[in-house]
Amino acid sequence: MAEETYLVKMEGITKHFPGVTANYKVNLDLRPGEIHALLGENGSGKSTLMSILAGLYHPDDGRIFIAGKKVNFRSPRDAIQAGIGMVHQHFRLVETFTVAENIILGDTAVPFFLRMRRLENKIAALGERYGLKIDPHARIWQLSVGERQRVEIVKMLYRGCRVLILDEPTAVLTPQETKDLFANLRMMAGEGKAVVLITHKLQEVMQVADRVTVLRGGRAIGTLERGTYNERELARLMIGRDIAPQVTRMPAIRGEVVLELHDVHVMNDLGRPGLDGVSLAVHRGEILGVAGIAGNGQRELAEAVAGLRKVIRGRIYIGGEDCTNLGPRTIIDKGVAHIPEDRLGSGLVAGLGALDNLILKDYRRRGFSRGPFIDRRAATARAAALTKQFDVRLTGDLDAPVRLLSGGNLQRLLLAREISASPRLIIAVYPARGLDIAATGIVHQLLVKQRARGAAVLLISEDLDEIFKLSDRIAVLFKGRLAAILPAEGTDPQQVGLLMMGAGLQGAEAV
Ligand SMILES: Nc1ncnc2c1ncn2[C@@H]1O[C@H](COP(=O)(O)OP(=O)(O)OP(=O)(O)O)[C@@H](O)[C@H]1O
Ligand SMILES: [Mg+2]
Repeated sequence: MAEETYLVKMEGITKHFPGVTANYKVNLDLRPGEIHALLGENGSGKSTLMSILAGLYHPDDGRIFIAGKKVNFRSPRDAIQAGIGMVHQHFRLVETFTVAENIILGDTAVPFFLRMRRLENKIAALGERYGLKIDPHARIWQLSVGERQRVEIVKMLYRGCRVLILDEPTAVLTPQETKDLFANLRMMAGEGKAVVLITHKLQEVMQVADRVTVLRGGRAIGTLERGTYNERELARLMIGRDIAPQVTRMPAIRGEVVLELHDVHVMNDLGRPGLDGVSLAVHRGEILGVAGIAGNGQRELAEAVAGLRKVIRGRIYIGGEDCTNLGPRTIIDKGVAHIPEDRLGSGLVAGLGALDNLILKDYRRRGFSRGPFIDRRAATARAAALTKQFDVRLTGDLDAPVRLLSGGNLQRLLLAREISASPRLIIAVYPARGLDIAATGIVHQLLVKQRARGAAVLLISEDLDEIFKLSDRIAVLFKGRLAAILPAEGTDPQQVGLLMMGAGLQGAEAV
């Protein structure tokens, strides 16, 4: 029967949230053995549609069939039992538990006599089989984002999923990890699983998808077979017009030094050297791009400057003042903005509304406080202006918890808060991560504008295109050390790529 060629069939799926229709009459089918890309701009309804399939949300209308049989999921557990596994955009692991504990968490099918030891072996074997290496004994907080993702995937495989949904998995991965992941996904598809890859990266669709479904404004615009589309056509389908113009970098005058690191040493979370003697300077009106494969000290660098990580040797100066180990509150008061790697972890408070998140950092300074209270009226006016200026598409009002926002809108909210404070130093860690093409353009333009205004920008990214597009100078981090600092102009990206991998460390020089 024709029905049987589909593992999953979603028909006429509609889902409303207060004030927004996240999905409208969406049809989608998944075939066994395929990698199916789900493409769409921020807020187009990708996560919602797949959360419905994963039993997290109940659709207002529409039907779902699995292998020809109509299903009605009441909870994620129902979906898992039907073989649907989803790795969410924001991971849901318990930080203090081990990998093994996280994987069996909520799995009532595990008899308690099944010893942890055996379980751990099984997890390791699964990891081995699919090339997803993880240590079952490691605690989640010790793992990099890439490793955490592997845990989530193994968790789904462990539960025997036939349909694996990954929500923007590569947003947090290094280029090498992305390559490995795609190879793993292909292997899973080869076994007859259906893999859904949510993304807004056209290149990835071109690279790995057998079919692609494009969502725009909650509607499915179409499903296309590999070989019948190119990047340009996909972009047009996705945003309904041609791609936005490139970032124009206005000339800026490099001024005095704003940030200076002098032989800085810090430890990483594993207690090993994270930064191993880094010295660099960022000037007014300059973007210093820090290139490197994640895990080579980027996070430690950003956190050390932001006052979130202890400097064990060396000094950090901001505006000529020794700010070593002053603590995050004081660093903020020195005019430092921080756009951190994980938006919902250290950037925003998930359970609070946009208003509270926006004033989180500056209510002390900006006259919103009346005694111990916050002047809600003034704060509301400011929050409303900021969300408008930065085009944050809120769900509900300014008090609705921000965890309901789509990934891209979360990032805009964070940028709105950080940039609107007119900081003299901006630490931007993967600022365009999770953003669609249009929003990426907006963020890039914002950073370039800040540079023109005279801010010093420390831009941390693994995306060499982004680094070259925005930076005046490029510093390459490798194993916690600076491999080189080079002028962006006239430098070959290939050379930077090699330095990122540890090649050609001699001849490193400061400019
Ligand atoms: N639980 C919720 N409550 C209210 N509104 C929601 C909820 N979840 C999503 N929305 C809204 O539904 C719309 C679609 O959101 P969704 O997260 O599905 O988009 P997305 O395509 O995954 O976007 P992104 O690429 O930014 O992750 C957005 O306007 C979002 O704010
Ligand atoms: Mg999403």
